[in-house]
Amino acid sequence: MKSNSITAVAPATSANLGSGFDVFSVALDIFFDTINVEMIEGGGIEIRVEGPGSASIPLDPDRNTAGIVAKALLSLSKRRHGLLIEIKKGIRPGSGLGSSAASAAAAVVAVNKLLNLNLSKLDLVRFAAQGEIASAGAAHADNVSAAILGQFNIIRCSNPLDVVNLSLPKNIGFAIVIPEITHKTTSQARSVLPEKVSLSDLVYHVGHAATIVAGIALGDVSLMGKGMSDIVVEPARAHLIPGLAAVKKSAMNCGAAGVSISGAGPSVIALVNTNERRISDVSRAMKEAFEDGGIKCEALSAKPGPGARLLEQ
Ligand code: HSE
Repeated sequence: MKSNSITAVAPATSANLGSGFDVFSVALDIFFDTINVEMIEGGGIEIRVEGPGSASIPLDPDRNTAGIVAKALLSLSKRRHGLLIEIKKGIRPGSGLGSSAASAAAAVVAVNKLLNLNLSKLDLVRFAAQGEIASAGAAHADNVSAAILGQFNIIRCSNPLDVVNLSLPKNIGFAIVIPEITHKTTSQARSVLPEKVSLSDLVYHVGHAATIVAGIALGDVSLMGKGMSDIVVEPARAHLIPGLAAVKKSAMNCGAAGVSISGAGPSVIALVNTNERRISDVSRAMKEAFEDGGIKCEALSAKPGPGARLLEQ
């Protein structure tokens, strides 16, 4: 590695956990994006991408999540050189596991170090959230907060940004299935959402989201699972994921504590109390339910993980 370059990695993440749309997120210990950033002569930003799904990722710095982030930080630094950003995708784009957020998070961590900006963790999240505009059409900070801070995160407020970071109970596992369906972009998956919600739906969601946080505070995975119900966003997106109801039912029948779409989908994530159930049993049950409906998918077992980090030089 060259002395004028820095490498960072950032993990896959899952946003929402049902009731916490645009508010909750968790960092997973599976799949990572790796980004190397190098100072180059000239003032521009050059982007190279390799790995699963890389053909669908724009190389234009104004349309690439890592590029948007790097450009903003370069402008903040007032330096005159350019940046070469090499992205190794480990997280498939459009899977609902925070692929764009991981690229934005790794980029912000690497560029912050390379340009000696000494930004706070909250500033890193704020800049990375700007990158999300490229894929989601909105600077939602849920995935990027988990990709940077790790574990479980609450976006208490998005403007001005404030994030609460919590450690999850040790006996939490996540059973995840990634179905092979051509999914809409996050921005399209957001376009199907209602613009307004009723007061009774608001009350339902506050109660359920609060229950997830109470479950974390009490170390009670079953209580967390009870809070994962979503009566606003998931019903609006359900038609984008054929077989979703059967997959959710199968997870619960297999002993999951709760289950929801992961982020904007199409992956589905179930919460598992690892003292009582094997994560792989739940993910296998979900995979079988998708495949009974004619949809192939990948089944994964994950635990909560740390956020983005620099790789040793
Ligand atoms: N909260 C975002 C959404 C996450 O559900 O649209 C996207 O990964």
